[in-house]
Amino acid sequence: MPATTRPGPRTPVWADLTAHATRLVAVPVQELFERDPGRFERLSREQAGLLLDFSRQRLDEIALAKLFQLADVIGLRARIDAMWQGAHINTTEDRAVLHVALRQPRGAGVGGADIEQAVMAERARMLGFAQGVREGAIQGTAGKPFRLVVNVGIGGSDLGPAMAVQALSAFTLGAPRCEFVSNIDGVHLADVLRDADPGTTLFIVSSKTFTTLETLTNARTARAWLAGKLGEEAVPRHFAAVSVNTRAMNEFGVHPEYRFPMWDWVGGRYSVWSSIGVSLAIAIGERNFLEFLQGGHEMDEHFRTAPWAENLPALMGLIAVWNINFMNLPTLAVLPYDDSLRRFPAYLQQLEMESNGKSVSLDGKPMDWQTAAVIWGEPGNNAQHSFFQLLHQGTARAALDFLLPVRSSCGNQEQQNLAIASCLAQAEAFMTGQSAETVRAELERQEMPPARIEPLIPHKVHPGSRPSTVVLFQKLDPATLGKLIALYEHSVFTQSVVWGINAFDQWGVELGKRLTEQLAPAVQDPGGGHAAPASVMKLLATVEKWRR
Ligand code: F6P
Repeated sequence: MPATTRPGPRTPVWADLTAHATRLVAVPVQELFERDPGRFERLSREQAGLLLDFSRQRLDEIALAKLFQLADVIGLRARIDAMWQGAHINTTEDRAVLHVALRQPRGAGVGGADIEQAVMAERARMLGFAQGVREGAIQGTAGKPFRLVVNVGIGGSDLGPAMAVQALSAFTLGAPRCEFVSNIDGVHLADVLRDADPGTTLFIVSSKTFTTLETLTNARTARAWLAGKLGEEAVPRHFAAVSVNTRAMNEFGVHPEYRFPMWDWVGGRYSVWSSIGVSLAIAIGERNFLEFLQGGHEMDEHFRTAPWAENLPALMGLIAVWNINFMNLPTLAVLPYDDSLRRFPAYLQQLEMESNGKSVSLDGKPMDWQTAAVIWGEPGNNAQHSFFQLLHQGTARAALDFLLPVRSSCGNQEQQNLAIASCLAQAEAFMTGQSAETVRAELERQEMPPARIEPLIPHKVHPGSRPSTVVLFQKLDPATLGKLIALYEHSVFTQSVVWGINAFDQWGVELGKRLTEQLAPAVQDPGGGHAAPASVMKLLATVEKWRR
C-alpha cells in the first residue's frame, strides 16, 4: 500500500465538484424539493437500522455521483482494506489502526488470528471483572459491594465511556454510580469524593500511556485520599487500571488481576471499545456491552462492504467534505434530540478534530485546502433557545447534524413526540427560511399598520437553505449507540482519505503538554529560580502576588 494517495483536491473531479457547487449555490434548497417530488427517496438512505436523511443538503444526485467518483479516484476502498488488513496507516507513529478488531465477534478474524485471540481474551477478562463489580462479587476492603466507580482519565480515556454511560443511563439499573474525573484542577474529584464512602469506592485509572499529567495527578490524589482513609494496604483492592504501560500500572500499586492491557494499535479516541470501556461495562452489564460492540461491528461491515451510494459513513464523510470544501461551511453543529446524548458533541469534538485537525498531508506537505470542521453542539431543544438564533439569521454559517430517536429513552413518549416535532420543525425552518413576502403577508393578517410592517420585515426574514442531515433511529439502545459512534468514526476516516491526512496521530497536543511540564515548577515555586518564558513572567508575578 502506498504511504500516500492522491488527495481529493489534486484530482480533476475536484474542479467538477466546484462547478456543481457553483450551480447549486444559486438554487434555494426548497426549490430543489419543489422541482423533484422524489427528492427524499433520492437523497436519504436506510441502512443498518439508521435512516440518514440528507435531502436538506445543498446537493443533488449529479453532485452526489461526483462525490462517489471522488471516493473512487482517491482510492477510498483500498484505504479501507488497508485499515482492515492491519497496514500501518498511522504512518507517523508506524502503527496499525485496528479499533475495528475490538468490536468483532469471535471467528471474524479482523486483524488476523493473533489479534482476534488477544482481543477475545482481554474482553473476557475485562467483562468478568466488570460483571464481578456490578454484581458485588468483587468487593473492597469493607467487604461490601462497590457503590461508586470513579474513572480517572482524560481525552479518549474519558470522553468515550463518560458519553456512553450517560447515553445509556436507561440501561444502568442496579449498577454502581459511575463518575468520570478528568480536569487537573481537582475540582471534580473533590466534588465526587466529598460524600464518597471509601470502603465502597473503586477507582479506575484509564490512561493508554499512563504518563498523562492530568490523569496521574488525579490518580495520585485519589490514591492518597483512599490510603488516608483505609490504609495503604487497601489500594490494590480499590484501584483498577487500563493501559499499555504495565510497568507504570505495577508501580502505581494496581493488583495484577485488576490491570487491563490495551494495544498501541488502538488510538485513544477510538478506545471505548477496549478495556477503556470497563466503566461502561460495569454500568450497563456484559450483555449490553456486547450489544454495543455488535452495533459497532455491524456498522464496520456495512462500511467495509457497501457501495458508496448505500454506504452511510462514506456518504456522511463525503457530505462533510462537500460542506467544508465546496459550501464553505467551516463548522458542524451536532444536535441530539435525546438529552442522554448530551455528551455526544463533546465526544465528537475529539473524534473529528483530534483526528483531522491537521494542515499537512500524509507526505508532510502543507495543504492549501480546508480540513476538519469545528464541531460543536448541544441537545437540540436547549440549542433552540440559545444559539439557533445565530444559525437561523446570523452571518456565521454552519452545517447541522440532527440526531433523532423515535422512541423515548425514559418511557415518556408523549414528551419525545414533542422532541421529534421540535427537531423536524427546525430542520424545515433551516431549509425553507422565511421570505419578505411571507413576513409581510403574516403581519398584514395581524393588521399591523403598514408604516410598522416595512421596517420590521428585514428583522423577521430567515434566509433558509441552511444545510442539515437528520440521523433517525428507533431508540437509543447499546447497539444503536455502537452504530452511531462507528458511523462517525468511519465518516472521519472517509474525510481524512479525501484530504490525504493521517487521522490517527495527534502531534498538535504535544507542545502544550511539554510546556506545561516545564512551567509547573515555576508556578509551584516562584522563588526557586525555575526558568519560564519572558512572555509569561509578568502574569506569573501577578499569580504569585494574588495567591499569597
Ligand atoms: O490529549 C491528547 C491525548 O493524547 C489523546 O489523544 C488521548 O486520548 C488523551 O491524551 C489521553 O491519553 P492517555 O490515555 O494516554 O492518558
